[in-house]
Amino acid sequence: MRDKNNMRRIYVFDTTLRDGEQSPGCTMNLNDKLLVAEHLEALRVDVIEAGFAIASKGDLASVKAIAEVVKNATVASLCRALPGDIDCAWEGVKRAARPRIHTFIATSPIHMEFKLKMRPDEVYQQAVEMVKYARNLCGDVEFSLEDCSRSERAFIYRVIEGVIAAGASTVNIPDTVGYAVPEEFGQLIADIRAHVPNIAQARIAVHCHNDLGLAVANSLAAIKAGAEQVECTVNGIGERAGNTALEEVVMAIQTRKDYYQAYTNIDTSRIYPASRCVVNVTGSRVQANKSIVGENAFAHEAGIHQHGMLANPLTYEIMTPESIGLPANKMVLGKHSGKHAFESRLAELGFNFDEQRIKELFGKFKDLADRKKCVGDADIEALAYDVQTMVVAGARLDRFNTTASNAITPVSTVRLIVDGKKVEQVAIGDGPISASFAAINQILEVDVALDSFELSAVTGGRDAQCEATVRVRNGERNYHGRGVSTDVIEASILAYIQAVNILMNEQERRSAALAEECGIQSDARLNNEKTRT
Ligand code: KIV
Ligand code: ZN
Repeated sequence: MRDKNNMRRIYVFDTTLRDGEQSPGCTMNLNDKLLVAEHLEALRVDVIEAGFAIASKGDLASVKAIAEVVKNATVASLCRALPGDIDCAWEGVKRAARPRIHTFIATSPIHMEFKLKMRPDEVYQQAVEMVKYARNLCGDVEFSLEDCSRSERAFIYRVIEGVIAAGASTVNIPDTVGYAVPEEFGQLIADIRAHVPNIAQARIAVHCHNDLGLAVANSLAAIKAGAEQVECTVNGIGERAGNTALEEVVMAIQTRKDYYQAYTNIDTSRIYPASRCVVNVTGSRVQANKSIVGENAFAHEAGIHQHGMLANPLTYEIMTPESIGLPANKMVLGKHSGKHAFESRLAELGFNFDEQRIKELFGKFKDLADRKKCVGDADIEALAYDVQTMVVAGARLDRFNTTASNAITPVSTVRLIVDGKKVEQVAIGDGPISASFAAINQILEVDVALDSFELSAVTGGRDAQCEATVRVRNGERNYHGRGVSTDVIEASILAYIQAVNILMNEQERRSAALAEECGIQSDARLNNEKTRT
């Protein structure tokens, strides 16, 4: 499709909620996923891959919930090329305004022989049959040739021709293991266009991983060679080294439209708020020098740069900070600032809250302004995410008291409100924070491993707010919590409680689902009831 002065339209397929969520430590709960989906809609991505519905009941539930709220974007669920997987994906997306089934099978010799244990003919047959099966359910089917960049050309052409004839309207060429290099990957797309007779009946998509740091470069080479859909994630999160970063590929297309002769439908001014949202819900920060959304991406420190920038910003700036939605001036509010100023700053930072939430937040802002002379953007953002993520159900902090010194064993007394009742415990630890975590474990009767714990100052200064992020592990899965306070111990306790609440909620959901299947009352429920009485 051509427009915007005869340029090619590039469709943006976002997989932050599926491939992104698969990255270690980036697990999101339903509330987080809905927040991210809201940002993706505001960005105007063309497709939101909401999850891998068959992976778990929780994944299916979140795919369904996203399908129900998203109005404009197509909502896709990934599924293997198997009837049960496809049925489940359809169950997830069928209520979407624009549903898509995204099915895949591996086509490289190594995957076919060692993972699938199937011959190429069998893989071909299954791909074609499963696309037909999916097309009977859904009018929009995408097919991916997993590990395509390591597959044999003749087989790639054959599979693509077969799945298009079977009804796939998008064929995706993944560089699953991040092995490709740009010239070669671009040539692969050019060759597919030249050798697959019915290729004009489908859109070519590309999906690159960043193992060699080439995901964006490979995607751009593919676009130059004729690919029309780019698959990517916000901040480039994803399996191992991550996926193509949405903000980088989109801004490259926009900034170098003279070269690519292409455009996307993305509202680039929503990039920065979306990036911050993903950082906040996953706890996965971006490095300061990360392109587009890193803290230093638009900072000009060197004197010679500053001189040039003052004379004419174009001397050193190829994009403006406003074009990605970076708030232009760093406004500082204080205890005399009114609700109106606060509300409009929230909106400029990309938050869109209802009246009730704004009132609640304004109260917190006033409390903070009493403790802190200047409240900056980072403080407001921290408060806003705190309110958004507080919706996690479960225990709440009532009060705590710690004693610590280098001469006596640190002790913490923590009182939580659990199901409306106050429960208190005293524990010791290596420091006041670990003693507090131990007290919380005793109250909630949980035994979780602490995978990581980070403290950082939201802003500079002695009165800075502190942000704590905590990751706790239970078996294979880990859960992330975040807390903000001007007190480091309180921030840490809040983060820990949030992570444990998310973990316990999921355990409850899983046990309830299992119990439903077996017709018995779940152990977790029984345990929780015991804890709470
Ligand atoms: O990396 C990959 O190959 C994928 C596909 C399943 C699309 O994520
Ligand atoms: Zn992938």
